[in-house]
Amino acid sequence: MQIRDERDEDAAAISRVTAAAFANAPHSSGTEARIVAALRQAGALTISLAAVSDDASIVGHVAFSPVQIDRAAGRWYGLGPVSVVPDMQRQGIGGALIREGLARLAALNADGCVLLGDPSYYSRFGFVSDPALTYGGAPSPYFQRLVLKGEPPKGDVSYHPAFDVA
Ligand SMILES: CC(C)(COP(=O)(O)OP(=O)(O)OC[C@H]1O[C@@H](n2cnc3c(N)ncnc32)[C@H](O)[C@@H]1OP(=O)(O)O)[C@@H](O)C(=O)NCCC(=O)NCCS
Repeated sequence: MQIRDERDEDAAAISRVTAAAFANAPHSSGTEARIVAALRQAGALTISLAAVSDDASIVGHVAFSPVQIDRAAGRWYGLGPVSVVPDMQRQGIGGALIREGLARLAALNADGCVLLGDPSYYSRFGFVSDPALTYGGAPSPYFQRLVLKGEPPKGDVSYHPAFDVA
């Protein structure tokens, strides 16, 4: 298994992987594959990593895109969607994608990363919730941040408009 940047020819496979991963996810909006495509089209896929199996098929993907914080400056990014095909979940692929993406963000001199997700999974990467950093009405424990440098920011976070695709 190899983790590498997405290539032009990967777009369709990444859509399939994303749709398959979220097909049975209880919290899915059903729009995750379209969000990835819209981010790509908008030039807002800052980091897009594919997990590639030995037979060269894409089995996982993670996206990172810029976010805005209304009361803070700095370069912050949102993690997600992150996807692993159902029959290859729980083998460390998601974790490898996330760790590599966070290392890439640090190399880009990012200040930090936010995400909406299950804290029992994301706490292992260092994500914590902070009531001072909100995402609309999302329940605080599920909205988490990882500071890469500087002070923890305060404010309300907005994702890229590509996340609004219906
Ligand atoms: C979430 C996802 C990307 C994780 O990838 P993965 O390759 O299965 O995860 P890893 O193998 O790195 O980690 C497995 C561990 O994460 C836990 N885990 C996986 N998905 C989880 C979730 N949604 N919530 C809580 N824990 C989760 C497993 O229980 C396992 O824990 P354990 O090692 O203590 O048993 C993958 O399960 C997936 O594609 N899920 C469907 C789409 C989705 O929900 N994406 C995230 C939206 S927030």
